[in-house]
Amino acid sequence: MTVFEATCTAPVNIAVVKYWGKRDTSLILPTNSSLSVTLSQDQLHSKTTIRASADFTSDRLWLNGIEESIEKNKRLVACLRETRALRRTQIEDKDPSAPKISNLAIHICSENNFPTAAGLASSASGYACLVYTLSKLFELPLDASDLSIVARQGSGSACRSLFGGFVAWEMGTKEDGSDSKAVQIAPETHWPDLQAMICVVSDEKKGTSSTEGMQLTVKTSALLQHRIKEVVPKRMEDMIAAIHNKDFPKFAELTMQDSNQFHAVCLDTYPPIFYMNDISRAIIRIITEYNKDGVKAAYTFDAGPNAVIYAPKDNMAEIYAILSHYFPNAAFDDSMGLLKETALPSLP
Ligand code: PMV
Repeated sequence: MTVFEATCTAPVNIAVVKYWGKRDTSLILPTNSSLSVTLSQDQLHSKTTIRASADFTSDRLWLNGIEESIEKNKRLVACLRETRALRRTQIEDKDPSAPKISNLAIHICSENNFPTAAGLASSASGYACLVYTLSKLFELPLDASDLSIVARQGSGSACRSLFGGFVAWEMGTKEDGSDSKAVQIAPETHWPDLQAMICVVSDEKKGTSSTEGMQLTVKTSALLQHRIKEVVPKRMEDMIAAIHNKDFPKFAELTMQDSNQFHAVCLDTYPPIFYMNDISRAIIRIITEYNKDGVKAAYTFDAGPNAVIYAPKDNMAEIYAILSHYFPNAAFDDSMGLLKETALPSLP
């Protein structure tokens, strides 16, 4: 029996202008555009293998070695439905000799080389990897922006992991979501001097999922309305200019301001959502102190307590030394470029 198989990896992306809020929860259409940096595949990535075979009786999924239900996961079902429909319309309907892979059941096996759902963007790399691997399995003649429209329906931030380098997710205006897609602002080769360090403050699963959290924010936060109307449009323009000009101080200032406003919007949600903890706030204070005489590093935090520090390559050793000084129990795992910290530090 013929088995069709594809394996791909996809990297994590960390936003510097955050996506927070949906205007359409089933199509996953955002309330603002966002922008991220895709990390190197050597750092954090998902790896997915998908097989299709007439021997399989149903679609099945294994996540980090444990079987999970597909039917309960509406978003995964949407990605499968969309890619199968594309296989039919783009290939099987046009070429009667093409194998009818869209009718076969599939088995999906996906792994992350980092903690899942700890605010380290596992859903971004996971869904980007799923959709990209399906596109290879089905041999879809689509570019990364087209695929981003499908990946977006798995997890919003996933659409940005279809590209390397610096990536914008344009919110779009159409009701069907056909213009809500990712575009590359600059390739990974554009700014090789910019590096990211991931500080794992906690690898536990986060308390409030981004889905729950952002809908509560949309319903209750007045600050979010100010952010999406008055702040993000200009910040997107300024961030794109800072990236094109490789202007690190401007890039860093905008990144930190945007992280701060995202967490302020979480605090303005009712009841409030706290993603950062005391260690996260200590990291903010350390970086702020380090930047006193000129901006040399930027912190950013997603929906969890872990920090990502962006800095020029030459500053990284110094930043690592400073963080190790304040967090003496931190372990540094060279293979993944992760700084792991569990003990509560004394504040600087
Ligand atoms: O794609 P989601 O539902 O995991 O949301 C991600 C939201 C943030 O990570 C906090 C911000 C972003 O733009 O990635």
